[in-house]
Amino acid sequence: MLTAVDVRSKVPEVRGVPGLGCVPWMLRDGPGFLLREARAHGPLFRAKMGPGSLLVVAHPRDLRVVLHEQAKDFVRGNTVDLVRPLLGNGLPLSDGDFWLKQRRTMQPAFNRGHVALLADKMAAVCERRLADVPLGATIDVHRFFTHLARDVIVETMFSDSVANESQRLDEAFVEVSAFAGSRAFLPVKIPIEWPLPSNTRFRNAVATIDTVVSSIVKRRRDGERKGDLLDALLDARDPETGDAMAPEHLRDELVTIFFAGHETTANMLTWAWVELSSHPEWARRMRDELVALAPDRPIVAEDVAKLPVTNAVLREALRLHPPAWIFARQRLEPFALRDYDVRAKEVLLLCPYVTHRLEEYWPNPDVFDPQRFLEANPFTLGGGREIHYLPFGSGPHVCIGNFFAITEGVIAMGALARHGRLQIAEPSRVRSVVASTLTAANTRARVEAW
Ligand code: HEM
Repeated sequence: MLTAVDVRSKVPEVRGVPGLGCVPWMLRDGPGFLLREARAHGPLFRAKMGPGSLLVVAHPRDLRVVLHEQAKDFVRGNTVDLVRPLLGNGLPLSDGDFWLKQRRTMQPAFNRGHVALLADKMAAVCERRLADVPLGATIDVHRFFTHLARDVIVETMFSDSVANESQRLDEAFVEVSAFAGSRAFLPVKIPIEWPLPSNTRFRNAVATIDTVVSSIVKRRRDGERKGDLLDALLDARDPETGDAMAPEHLRDELVTIFFAGHETTANMLTWAWVELSSHPEWARRMRDELVALAPDRPIVAEDVAKLPVTNAVLREALRLHPPAWIFARQRLEPFALRDYDVRAKEVLLLCPYVTHRLEEYWPNPDVFDPQRFLEANPFTLGGGREIHYLPFGSGPHVCIGNFFAITEGVIAMGALARHGRLQIAEPSRVRSVVASTLTAANTRARVEAW
């Protein structure tokens, strides 16, 4: 490999190829590249990217500084500009007082008590989706779970349905996700206004998503209240002015929940079945546990905390294949991390994918072994102060939908335990693909009897 480490710089620096830096490797296989370099130089290093650089941060002690101890000093800033045309100023893209106000408005819809009330709807979606894939059917696992998770979000958070718009909506989500994945590491920013085919496709996809979301809002304004997230946003009033949420902010939060809430969960379930396909002993243990608790009924909210094996399988899939494999922060003024100088606005690339495979914390890190969570805590959502497990992030911005996602995952596994297993024909041919999250390709599988 052409990597050269600059011994003069204090933080190890991976320079890559002249002019481009590490861009070709990030584009070819970002997770693999970062892991390789972290194993070679340690989990804090700088990667040259064209004329600039990224500071890769993956050691728990550094993550604690950025996400907890000095969290207030770090912002998402311009690291999220690429997806701003889609998500506007939604929660994952905002900072400071505006973020706090929006987070407080939305939090109740995601609290455990409220998520428990949504379990029946989640189970109904799972049963309906599985009815379309009888034993013997061949399916694309990633696509199957993407549709399932999309319906769960629409039916639980917006109490609505997108059955009539589903195809163009799915195409739009695939487009925006691929756009984010392909542009994130280009050495130069391509303005979204330029008349390029990929820009046009992206803008059209955003317009499609906007149309669907605004028709959901219109139906609600004309209809009855449902007590869901959409109502919470419509009812929110500014404590000082008494004003309702501005239409553009409402739009941003709804598109955010739609987007952030389904692709990630779909990837968790997809990767779990990639691993279960080559570890049938864990598939069997999980199924036995689920069937012993609920032989002839869907999983209900109170069951979720009584299923350690199922929870451990999901945790281990999230460890090896965290859907949010990277996220970013920056600081507006220069600062020091350990003893190293960091420039103002340098992008800090926080990388759970690397953290989750540090040998110091995870023996045999590349091996799928849910036993490690059974022995520690199969119900952890991660992100505590000892941050070596952070699939949902950590600190004030920790994923608002973490418990929602796990509940959905366990309920989906319960439905499959009574229906059939998803056997991916050649798990070794499954490829990681970096879209806006870490997703999987080549996931064709047969629905088989247990
Ligand atoms: C397995 C599924 C999921 C994973 C792996 C995941 C991962 C993450 C991560 C790592 C963050 C932190 C980003 C940062 O600190 O910059 C985050 C934030 C967020 N997630 Fe999730 N997420 C999942 C499911 C969901 C669901 C189901 C929803 C909503 C229904 C959701 C909505 C959000 C929102 C709104 C934020 C921003 C929170 C804030 O900044 O206050 N996520 N997620």
